[in-house]
Amino acid sequence: MSVLIAPSMLSSDFARMADELRAIERAGADWIHLDVMDGHFVPNITFGPPIIKAMRPHTAKTFDVHLMIEPVDPFLQAFADAGADVISVHVEAGRHVHRSLQAIRGLGKQAGVVLNPGTPEDSIAYLLDQVDLVLLMTVNPGFGGQAFIPAVVEKVRRVKAMIGDRPIRIEIDGGVTAENAGVLVAAGADVLVAGTAVFKGGTEDAYRSNIAALRAAAEAQRA
Ligand code: DX5
Ligand code: ZN
Repeated sequence: MSVLIAPSMLSSDFARMADELRAIERAGADWIHLDVMDGHFVPNITFGPPIIKAMRPHTAKTFDVHLMIEPVDPFLQAFADAGADVISVHVEAGRHVHRSLQAIRGLGKQAGVVLNPGTPEDSIAYLLDQVDLVLLMTVNPGFGGQAFIPAVVEKVRRVKAMIGDRPIRIEIDGGVTAENAGVLVAAGADVLVAGTAVFKGGTEDAYRSNIAALRAAAEAQRA
């Protein structure tokens, strides 16, 4: 599987979201990462289904929806209807993650499970047949622009081994830069989320060179 770059719209200009989406697509984004925060599961609030629905006509790229909300189950249908393609839920956000993952697939969407930096990989051992993606947080969720936590690289290796030959992508989120992209990909990552590292510079040309730098660093280390 080739490495995918998924810019996080959290670092975009929210007042110009449609323009930002078109710019990031032209600049080479593979997936669009959408961070949904509820001020309860995480100490920040962003946006929900109506905003995602409004964004949907402006790009055909995969909408990779990262739900940092608790509870999740009552809202899955709304995110599916809004145009999500991948819906990821935190293993820490509910007692019945297996059921949430089944519900996502039941809605015809790809299911992802997310682990906070402090959550051990064992917690997903019995979920691997229910998921299309494992998202490993390399910061504590809630904010863009935080420092990468290097201890998670070992967890990437372990999850890669657990996955074996299942068709499951490993996605990394938090503090990803061209400096750490290589070590992450060498460990087994194949989707890199990046907010700050993609949107720095604030112009389409800057986004293009930022994405190219991430991709070059990733591809150089691909196993
Ligand atoms: C954090 C979010 C991330 C965030 C990453 O809770 O899940 O997707 O946007 O931003 P950077 O790349 O700036 O760490
Ligand atoms: Zn995210």
